[in-house]
Amino acid sequence: MESKSAIAILCFIAVQVSSSNVTTVYDFPEKFKFGVATAAFQIEGGWNEDGKSPSIWDTGVHEQPDRIDDRTNGDITSDSYHQLDRDIEMLIELGVQFYRFSISWARVLPNGDVSSLNKAGVDYYNRLINKLLENSIEPMVTMYHYDLPDELQKIGGMTNPQIVEYFENYADVLYSNFGDRVKLWATFNEPHEYCNYGYAKATYPPFISAPGVGEYLCIDHTVKAHASAYRLYKKKYARKQKGKVGIVINGAAPFSRTNDTALIERALQYRFGWIAHPIYSKLGGYPEVMVKEVGENSRAEGRAWSRLPHMDRSWKQFIRGAADFFGLNYYSARYIEPAEKIAGQTPSWENDVGIKESVDPSWKKAKSDWLYSSPGGLLKTLQWLKKEYNNVEVFITENGWSDDGQLDDDGRIEYLQDHLRQVSQAIKDGCNVSGYAHWSLMDNFEWLRGYTERFGLYYVNTRSPGRTTTAKKSVAVYRDIISSRQV
Ligand SMILES: *[C@@H]1O[C@H](CO)[C@@H](O)[C@H](O)[C@H]1NC(C)=O
Ligand SMILES: *[C@@H]1O[C@H](CO)[C@@H](O)[C@H](O)[C@H]1NC(C)=O
Ligand SMILES: *[C@@H]1O[C@H](CO)[C@@H](O)[C@H](O)[C@H]1NC(C)=O
Repeated sequence: MESKSAIAILCFIAVQVSSSNVTTVYDFPEKFKFGVATAAFQIEGGWNEDGKSPSIWDTGVHEQPDRIDDRTNGDITSDSYHQLDRDIEMLIELGVQFYRFSISWARVLPNGDVSSLNKAGVDYYNRLINKLLENSIEPMVTMYHYDLPDELQKIGGMTNPQIVEYFENYADVLYSNFGDRVKLWATFNEPHEYCNYGYAKATYPPFISAPGVGEYLCIDHTVKAHASAYRLYKKKYARKQKGKVGIVINGAAPFSRTNDTALIERALQYRFGWIAHPIYSKLGGYPEVMVKEVGENSRAEGRAWSRLPHMDRSWKQFIRGAADFFGLNYYSARYIEPAEKIAGQTPSWENDVGIKESVDPSWKKAKSDWLYSSPGGLLKTLQWLKKEYNNVEVFITENGWSDDGQLDDDGRIEYLQDHLRQVSQAIKDGCNVSGYAHWSLMDNFEWLRGYTERFGLYYVNTRSPGRTTTAKKSVAVYRDIISSRQV
């Protein structure tokens, strides 16, 4: 017992209550929004049509097809570029209040900059947005979901400081073209992933191996670009368009077998705080623990400066408070313990954190090797965000389960119900959660895993030319949750 964290106990109590008849009703407030999420590269296809230029994912996968488990790519994927009406029909069947999708930067601005506005790209998103609104479905737009225009990678991509202005200008184009109808904007999706895998570990495009430096530069430019897009909105658009701008951050909930609360806090700062502390904390800037430790490590390596970029006072002030909501992608949890320090190991964010992760044998495993169901971790994460960032408004922008794609997807149903119960509990505990988007509307190109892992509420037949879709069992379950506002 002593080794269990307080949250594990809380979670245990919640389960007890729900299985007796003193029943806690897991319901949701009237204004809570249910939705589903997707991303452009994973569903659109039409990779080179109507003026779209390649993104780093198009090029990366074309040049290195062996990186993808089933050698699929983004050329057609779920064919949403041609199947817009099919997508709308699924959303109507589910009865969602909002749809989170991403815009392909390279479809709207093929050169990456504002000299190259592609009318056909703008038209596609206009049709999508208008059809959503005609059906009373609110659009939530992610501006950047991994698919940087290749043209911008040629000049360094996310490690070029100029990316901050490129992104701000791209955001300006989106606000001016779509902001009359789009009221929910997420600037970046999961910076932790594209920065670590893309610019440190070389496992995601652009496949750059610069551990210890690349990921820190990438995050630094991401938070600056995010804040620039936010400030631009406030200055030029907010009064008229009255929308909200946030960023989407992901992370696993840390548990400790020895109830090491200091280690848990450190892990949360390195994981969420790295991106969130500059934006959402009272003080601004990177978490103190990171400034200190990465600075010390860099000095010990004989460097002239810290691998964690120095954030000066004016940037700190500019970034602090630059968000209207916090987008949380939550999938899983981990037990953590201090990792052994090995002399001479390659510097990296991972080695700076110095944490070893494991899972609990009782957690159910999805098809994805990183995904274990730990709904209590979601409650724990929401409670930490509430405490740490002054009860900021939170949208759960992703949460979902992978399997082989079977229509009887009981694993997904259980995961969905278990996690939504924790969301309902969090709201009752005073957490400021205003929406939940399930990942994902339909099966899609799951990055390096191709179509071997499927997250969809709808099955996608990748062998049919029109990529026909079929509702899985979970569709009826989610539809009932949404219409009854209860799980
Ligand atoms: C874990 O530590 C915290 C803080 O020291 C304490 O309040 C809590 O009771 C401990 N929980 C367990 C399960 O030992
Ligand atoms: C608990 O609720 C279930 C379903 O509503 C009902 O069938 C059962 O009789 C109840 N049990 C008790 C002990 O009240
Ligand atoms: C929830 O967030 C909104 C938007 O940030 C804020 O206006 C509101 O005061 C918050 N609610 C609570 C209970 O803190």
